[in-house]
Amino acid sequence: MNTDTTPSHSTHDAEADDRNDNIKIWVNGEIVHKDDAKVSVYDSGFMLGDGMWEGMRLYDGEWAFFDEHMDRLFNSLKSVSIALDMGPQDIHKLLNDTAAANDMTTDAHCRLMITRGRKAKPFQHPALSKWGPTVVAIVEHSKPAESLLGRGIRLATVPQVRGLPMSQDAKYNSHSKLNCVIACLQAEQAGADEGLMLDPHGFVNTTNACNFFIVRRGEVWTSTGDYCMNGVTRQKVIDLCRANDIPVKEKNYSLYEAYGADEAFLTGTFGAQTPVAEIDGKPIGTQEGAGPMTLKIRALYKDLVAQDVAKQKGART
Ligand SMILES: Cc1ncc(COP(=O)(O)O)c(C=O)c1O
Repeated sequence: MNTDTTPSHSTHDAEADDRNDNIKIWVNGEIVHKDDAKVSVYDSGFMLGDGMWEGMRLYDGEWAFFDEHMDRLFNSLKSVSIALDMGPQDIHKLLNDTAAANDMTTDAHCRLMITRGRKAKPFQHPALSKWGPTVVAIVEHSKPAESLLGRGIRLATVPQVRGLPMSQDAKYNSHSKLNCVIACLQAEQAGADEGLMLDPHGFVNTTNACNFFIVRRGEVWTSTGDYCMNGVTRQKVIDLCRANDIPVKEKNYSLYEAYGADEAFLTGTFGAQTPVAEIDGKPIGTQEGAGPMTLKIRALYKDLVAQDVAKQKGART
């Protein structure tokens, strides 16, 4: 019996890399072997999903769009009153130290996690986290699987929707991703790779792990942004379109327009822009894999990352 439950493919597919079996992880000020990287079962992140995280990529020794990621992280921490006695520069140093301990300079991806911390008792009240935040940085060798570019992701529209901001604002990159996990399960059960989620009004919003764009008649469309993660990559794509005379719209649209799109792609820090092959069994466009607009935007984004890396290097010399 095949007990491997790894999905056939997802936007987070990476080339296999045995070095990740022995990486070192930053846990509350110490850099320890993966097997020794542990937090308490009383931790608010484990118990309640009460924490925030950021995913960032290391390109040529620099964390791409570091300031933008810190802006989102510190806004989120402030909003949920997690008081971290570290600033962006401390985070930058700990990420660099972890990367150095693992001999990584490029093709690495971090998951930086900050929770409210260990609790005195196994209950919900935030004041029970008496000892301050728990900080963990996992940095793995990671190269997005090239095969996704030629093949694309299969999406299924799922019953799980994105919520209103007054329930759990989708802008929180919170440890609790249950809404997204349920959406992903529903997509998998429908025979797809990832879930396409609608907003409470039935407009197409986002996927369970990435932001979602369509290309229609030369225009690039994405949701209004009201119910989705304020993705750093999403914003960069919008900015790039504006700077390069590619018509771009943040608007409400329905599955009718998504099914009839010429191209569709997902955005996220890990995979940059990942083409969508089909939605609910309907092929998107006529091309195999990434279409011409997706490829154009991917190339512009690659250049932008290179510019950001050069700018960060320049700022330190
Ligand atoms: C639900 C969701 N949407 C979109 C994204 C992509 O955001 P970014 O482009 O900042 O990586 C993420 C990444 O954390 C996410 O969790």
